[in-house]
Amino acid sequence: MGVRFRGWGIALPDRIVTNDELSKTLDTSDEWITERTGIRERRIGGSAMSLGVVAGHQALEDAGFAAADIDFLVVATTTPDRLCPATAPMIAHEMGLDCPAMDVNAACSGFMFAVRTAQGLLETGNRRILVIGSEHLSRWVDWSDRNMAVLLGDGAGAAVLEYDPDGTDVLSFCLGADGSAADLLTCEHGGYFDMNGKEIFRRAVRVVVDSAEQALKGAGITADELSLVVPHQANIRIIQAALQRLGVGMDRAVITLDRYGNTSSSSIPLAYYDARENGRVRPGEYALLTGFGAGMTWASAIVRWS
Ligand code: UT7
Repeated sequence: MGVRFRGWGIALPDRIVTNDELSKTLDTSDEWITERTGIRERRIGGSAMSLGVVAGHQALEDAGFAAADIDFLVVATTTPDRLCPATAPMIAHEMGLDCPAMDVNAACSGFMFAVRTAQGLLETGNRRILVIGSEHLSRWVDWSDRNMAVLLGDGAGAAVLEYDPDGTDVLSFCLGADGSAADLLTCEHGGYFDMNGKEIFRRAVRVVVDSAEQALKGAGITADELSLVVPHQANIRIIQAALQRLGVGMDRAVITLDRYGNTSSSSIPLAYYDARENGRVRPGEYALLTGFGAGMTWASAIVRWS
């Protein structure tokens, strides 16, 4: 079944919060945050809807499509602006889309789950689908909790997918979920994000490596053949550990967490966009997109851009 990525867009709040700024109100330091996570600054502001609208418009423009061309909108978000309604119909309304719209919540793997969902929707007669990852994580951060406050940032990334009976950009997928790990990263109603960072770290490396290996196998290629790895941007040390186990050099990884922090569902499209802007996305080459997050959930895909 053919799926083509036709256009991409991103949105980032203007407000930059540096590690030094956080150190003024938290018992932390630029040195600790940079060494333990790789994060130097993050963007804060907007809403899941406003960021999603900007990224969505940009992706449509990039694809050369009009609002009327879109048959379905899937929004991946862990931080919807309201518990009800979903964020997707509001984004669709703001963008002038006249199509079904729904949210998907798979935490930091959300964008990948949304692409997988879109792939299924393309198979049932839809022709062009807008997929947006949009997060307003800062709203659910206790800014006096150094464990979470240093990690998260806001932002959005979007892609337009089109059905193509003659070929595909997505060669394989490996998704999973394990609810026995649900308590490791939570945000209760009316509360804030809370996490067992060490355990998430340990499991993250394992699920990224396992799912990546399965996705590679599904695509019939080896890790050596990958030109690019677009990983979820949670912690540089998780990316290093996973790539080392996969035998892939860090020179092939896309890193944006130094500038944006962990933006959950938005991190993979933001990283892909960054790679493309820097001329690192070349037609015909293989890329691994891989994410993990609360749930726990995980998702890897092998993509060959057309
Ligand atoms: O999107 C998916 C979700 N999340 C993740 O992927 C996060 C996965 N986990 C991680 O990235 C890391 O576990 C963290 C960055 C959260 C923590 O790094 P760590 O190397 O596991 O540090 P730690 O939790 O073992 O803490 C080491 C020390 C502790 O002090 P003691 O007990 O050794 O005295 C912490 O209290 O660092 C302290 N600490 C901090 N110090 C300064 C914890 N947070 C901070 C901080 N600033 N922000």
